[in-house]
Amino acid sequence: MAHRHTCMTVSKKTYNNNRISHFNRDARQTGEDTLHLLNEQTSEQYLTHIHKTGAIIKQWLNDNNVYSGGTPQQVQAANSVNIQSQGRDIEAILADIQDKFLPSSVSTAHRRCLAHLHPPTLVIGQIAEMIIAATNQSMDSWNQSPAATYIEKDLIEWLCQLCHFETSDDVQIYTQTDADADNQARRKAGGVFTSGGTQSNLMGLLLARNKFYAAKGIDVHKDGMLGQPRGIIFCSDQAHFSIEKNAALLGLGIRCVEKVGTDASGAMLISHLQQKIEEVGADNVMAVIATAGTTDLGAIDPLADIAKICREQKIWLHVDAAWGGALLLSQRYRHLIDGIQVADSITLDFHKHFFLPISCGAFLLRDQQDFESIRHHSEYLNSSDDEKDNIPNLVTYSLQTTRRFDALKLWMALDLLGTDDYGALIDACLRTARQAAELIEDHVDFVLVHQPIISSVLFYFKPQNTALSDQQLSQLNRQIAQDLLINNIANVATTQYEQHLCLKFTILNPNTQACDINTIIEQMTIAGFNRLQNYEGQPYDATKNA
Ligand SMILES: Cc1ncc(COP(=O)(O)O)c(C=O)c1O
Repeated sequence: MAHRHTCMTVSKKTYNNNRISHFNRDARQTGEDTLHLLNEQTSEQYLTHIHKTGAIIKQWLNDNNVYSGGTPQQVQAANSVNIQSQGRDIEAILADIQDKFLPSSVSTAHRRCLAHLHPPTLVIGQIAEMIIAATNQSMDSWNQSPAATYIEKDLIEWLCQLCHFETSDDVQIYTQTDADADNQARRKAGGVFTSGGTQSNLMGLLLARNKFYAAKGIDVHKDGMLGQPRGIIFCSDQAHFSIEKNAALLGLGIRCVEKVGTDASGAMLISHLQQKIEEVGADNVMAVIATAGTTDLGAIDPLADIAKICREQKIWLHVDAAWGGALLLSQRYRHLIDGIQVADSITLDFHKHFFLPISCGAFLLRDQQDFESIRHHSEYLNSSDDEKDNIPNLVTYSLQTTRRFDALKLWMALDLLGTDDYGALIDACLRTARQAAELIEDHVDFVLVHQPIISSVLFYFKPQNTALSDQQLSQLNRQIAQDLLINNIANVATTQYEQHLCLKFTILNPNTQACDINTIIEQMTIAGFNRLQNYEGQPYDATKNA
C-alpha cells in the first residue's frame, strides 16, 4: 500500500515539473521512496538545509530586534497562508521564513523581551530539539523510544530526589493501618514529562479527584461522577487560571474551585484556608492547590504550613511550581519553596525559568501507586506481557499517547551546566528583578506595586502632578506597552492587579542588566508623556525627567 502511494506521488508530470526543488530532484535521483523524507539517502540534503536554516536563524539573532513586525494588521498581511496544488522550492519557503515570519516574531533571546514566562532558550536546548525532531521517538511505548524511555524515567527519579519527596512513613496522609504504613513507606515517587504547566496541573487535579471519590467508594474513572457529591478545590485568588479550566474539563465545574484570600505579597492566607476548610468540612475537600510562583506577582504560598494542614486533614496537596520550581536549583533562594517535598503532586515547567524551548514540563507524584487510577491497557502499546517482562511503556502514566522526547532537553542542559551553573543563571534573573524594582521605586513618575519575590516586577506609570482617572491611567499604561513593542524597543506585559492596570517585567533572561531596565524605563517615560498629550493637550518636556 505504502509503495503504491509513493509510485503515484512520483508521476511523470511532477517528475518533469521545472519547479521541482533541488531537494526533491536530488531525492528522486537517489530513489522514489526517499521523496522528501528524512532517511539515509537524504541525509546530505538534510545537513545542507539545516545549515542554511541555521544561517537564517543566525542572521535573525544578529539583527537583534525584539520585534520588528509592526502592527497586528501588518503581521497578518505579511504572513497569510497560501496553499497551492503544486509545492515550492525549499529556498523560496526559507526566504519567506526569513523575510516574513522571523521579523514578525518576538525574539525571546532579546535582553528587553520581558513580557511573559517565555524565556530565551539555551543553545543546548536547540541542539536537543534537533535531535528530538530528527529521531522522532515517541514516548508512549518502549519499542518506539528504547533509550529515551529509560532516560526519561531516570530524569523523573532525579527530579523526585531534587524535590526531596517524602515517601517514608512520617508523611502518612492516607495510611490507616500498620500494614498500609509499611506499604506506603515502600512506595516510590514517580512522574512523567508533560506539555507544560496546564497539563501537569490537570494531572494533579485528575488524580486528586479519583482519590477523593475512591475514598468514598466511587470509581469515577469507570463510573463517572453523575449524581455524586461535589468536592471542593481550594487555591489562592492568585492561582493560575488553568486550575479553573481543568476543573471544568474534569467535569467538576468551575464553581467547585474556591479562592482563598492572599496577603500583600500575593501568598495564600493560612488562616483563610483553615477557615474555609472548616466551613465546608475536610471530608468535602478534594484538593488544595498551592502555588509556588504565581504568574503575575511570583508569590509563593506558605507551602510548609499548607502541607501541615493537608497532612492532618488527609487532603490532597498539589503544588503548582510551574515557575517557582526553578528555585529547586537556586543556591540563594531554594529555601523559598521549602515544604514542596510534602506535596502529593507537583507541576514543574522547564520551558519557563529553566530556559528550554517549548514544550517541556513534568508532573511528579509522591506515590506512583496513584497512577493506577488512570491506568489503561492497550495491547499494542502497554500489554500486560510487557509488564511481566519489566518493559516500561510510559503511556501508562501520561494523558497523551504519542509524546515528544522533551526530557532530552533537560537532560542535556543539566549535563552541560551542572546544577551549580544552572542555579546561577536562575539567580541572576532574581537579582536583576530586585535592581529593576529599585530603579522603578526611585522614579517619580512610576509606582512600584510590590517587591519582587521571584523575578516579576509590577508597576505602573503615574506621572506626578497629573490628574488622571483610574481608567485613563489604565489606558495610558496599556498604550505604553503597545508603543514599546510596535517600535521595537521592548516587550513588556500588562496585567490587572487590584484596581490598577500594571506594566509587568518578567525577567527570565540572565543577560538582562540594570542598564537594559533603565533604557526601558526611559522609553516608557517618553512614550507615556507623548501619549499624555492626548489627555492634557500639553507637549512632553524631555528635560523634565532627565
Ligand atoms: C503558575 C502557573 N501555572 C501554570 C501555568 C501554565 O503553564 P503552561 O503555559 O506551560 O501550560 C502557568 C503559565 O504561565 C503559570 O504561570
